[in-house]
Amino acid sequence: PLIKELFGLTELEEMLRRRLGLRRVIIVTGDADQSEWVKKEMGRAGARLLREEARPGQVVAVAGGTTVAAVAEMMAPSPQLKETTFVPARGGLGEAVELEANYIASLMAKKTGGSYRLMHVPDQLSEETYRTVIREPHIREVLELLKTARIAVHGIGGAMEMAARRKSSPELLRHLRETDAVGEAFGYYFNRRGEIVHKMKTVGIQLDDLQRMERIISVAGGASKADAIAAFCAVACRDTLITDEGAARAILASE
Ligand code: BG6
Repeated sequence: PLIKELFGLTELEEMLRRRLGLRRVIIVTGDADQSEWVKKEMGRAGARLLREEARPGQVVAVAGGTTVAAVAEMMAPSPQLKETTFVPARGGLGEAVELEANYIASLMAKKTGGSYRLMHVPDQLSEETYRTVIREPHIREVLELLKTARIAVHGIGGAMEMAARRKSSPELLRHLRETDAVGEAFGYYFNRRGEIVHKMKTVGIQLDDLQRMERIISVAGGASKADAIAAFCAVACRDTLITDEGAARAILASE
């Protein structure tokens, strides 16, 4: 707490909380764009929060990406989380396996002593396949479990970065450019005003599902993600944001 005071982080947290209309904001020192270590600190803050917020028998929905992976890495065996089931928030979104929600959910379970479920669904489904896949008993079971999730933990990405990382088609890249997409979360792409400009067809948590959850823990930092974070918070996140000083100052400096 003392270090936060020295850097004025407590003040920043309150300013950002008000600006984005959130319940709670946690800011770590530094800028993840500048140093990997800052992402690890966000991970540490996320791991601590998950431990503090844990309730017996809960389901935690887990999204993918390097930042949520950092949260998983920082988790440790804990009696509070031993009775938690970690469930991937969505199927594969066409990223490296270590960045997929499936893998990260299993890692969280392994680190804490909790349990996990997997969702084996391919990336970017056609309408027809989608309808078949969600009727599969195994998938249905995981989707039902997801509906009971108490907490969601997820990252927020830059729109163009995420589209490139998912090797999206030139058409989609063009569409995102034309619609001024700035951010992405849960397979939804947003413009600066927080309007959804594109949505990937994947199995799992939809934006509306977040309404039912008790806690939504969004973890994202780095000044380059300022617009992405602000855009997502304009629509969907009303709860907890874990970010870094770089992103916080950039959001507060923008109009
Ligand atoms: C992805 C999520 O895996 O991670 C996205 O599906 C999110 O919704 C992204 O935007 C964030 O990734 P990172 O690596 O910047 O934390």
